[in-house]
Amino acid sequence: MKSSWNRRQFLVATGVAVSAAVTEHTLLNPKRVLAASFTRKDVGGLTASSPEIVSYAKAVTAMQALPATDPRSWSYQAAIHGTLAPCPCPTSWNTCEHGTEFFWSWHRMYLYYFEKIVRRMSGDYGWALPYWNWQLASENKLPLMFRDPTSSLYTANRNTSINAGTGSLPSTDVDCSLALGDLAFSAAVEDIQGPHGNVHVDVGGWMGSVPTSAQDPIFYFHHSNVDRLWDIWLAQGGGRGDPVGDPAWKGKTYTFFDENGTAVTMTDCDVLRAAQQLNYVYDSEPPQVNEYCIRIWKFPPWLWQIVQVIHFPISPIEVNSERVNVPIELGEQSKRIQQIAASSEQRLFVVLSGIEAATQPGVTYQVYIGLPANEPPEPKSPYYVGTFSLFGLGVRDEGHHGSTPATYRFPANRAVTAALRRDETPTLTIVPSGILIDGKPSRPEAKATLHIGAVSFAEAAETRARQTK
Ligand code: C2O
Repeated sequence: MKSSWNRRQFLVATGVAVSAAVTEHTLLNPKRVLAASFTRKDVGGLTASSPEIVSYAKAVTAMQALPATDPRSWSYQAAIHGTLAPCPCPTSWNTCEHGTEFFWSWHRMYLYYFEKIVRRMSGDYGWALPYWNWQLASENKLPLMFRDPTSSLYTANRNTSINAGTGSLPSTDVDCSLALGDLAFSAAVEDIQGPHGNVHVDVGGWMGSVPTSAQDPIFYFHHSNVDRLWDIWLAQGGGRGDPVGDPAWKGKTYTFFDENGTAVTMTDCDVLRAAQQLNYVYDSEPPQVNEYCIRIWKFPPWLWQIVQVIHFPISPIEVNSERVNVPIELGEQSKRIQQIAASSEQRLFVVLSGIEAATQPGVTYQVYIGLPANEPPEPKSPYYVGTFSLFGLGVRDEGHHGSTPATYRFPANRAVTAALRRDETPTLTIVPSGILIDGKPSRPEAKATLHIGAVSFAEAAETRARQTK
């Protein structure tokens, strides 16, 4: 009594005038008192002997030992994300969301139940899923414990240099500034999939393909980070918000399995507030923004709109392992595009669409506009517009989403302005690229031909939608 200074005494001592009963109630109400019970930590601060890693390795082994019919088994969990198995398939297989507005929310639900299963299978009931903070230069290599061939966290099929620790993620591939800068949810959730997919392709092996990626234990640490980026995006404010007024977004129900192997369902409304609803926070994130489905907007607060599109007649572009240059004949559109590009208010995007390949090419692609033919590609030059890879869409042998070609758009004001200063017919350049090896850019062989169906420019805007009520 004298030495134990519990929270209730603290509240009383600080003059909170409430009855004991109410105080107890408040203490038990997690919304009022606790942020969350579980903290997801940056793997950069952990080692192979940290309890988080020991428990995870143990759970992976235990899940791998379960019969494949058990929804908690490693193979079943991976198949919920995606599988190459011919279907009809067991409940929930192949349900991952890519290229849609459910990308962030679906993966959040998936991780939430996966985390519960790991707790059960490891016997570590305080366990929280760490995250691979890959935007940091200090974490641009695959975390060390995943590179130990004797660990259950290792898989041999990744990019050899990534597994060897000589390979690292280029900063171009992990750049999230486009997504984080977006105000409209629809734009942010689309743009975050770019760097997310680049990390998949750079790690390679199972990670490089949707139907196999969740078999690699690093998958879940990777997605923990993607999930954290959702929180970070929201926390920037400025009108950013989840599309809680969109009945289509709120209305979709997904099935997962809990730690008992029992089927459970969730909707986007169940995963808006990680701390409150799901009981976790990240060790490095600003205070979480609490979104609620009950507040109804007729429209999402921001609308992402393509104001006008300017198409170019272009024959389909094919990219193998070599740099490809394509002249863009602007013709009489030239003046208009130049004006939009030079304006400080209008945003010009270059849009590559109809992107596909027969199988995962295994490389990323840097995009430039106006890069002089005799100049080496340099992402720091004004001609660089962005990097993409195929993941989730456009890989034809992947089933599920494979038959839908991918579209990427990149802000192009700076590049087009620089390009048109030099040349009336600027060049679009696509440079197949790979991970850094010993800190230097590598020139990997592409395993498939990339097809780009169309190139256009778009003037795009984010506008505040009229709020009804
Ligand atoms: Cu559903 Cu990173 O993939």
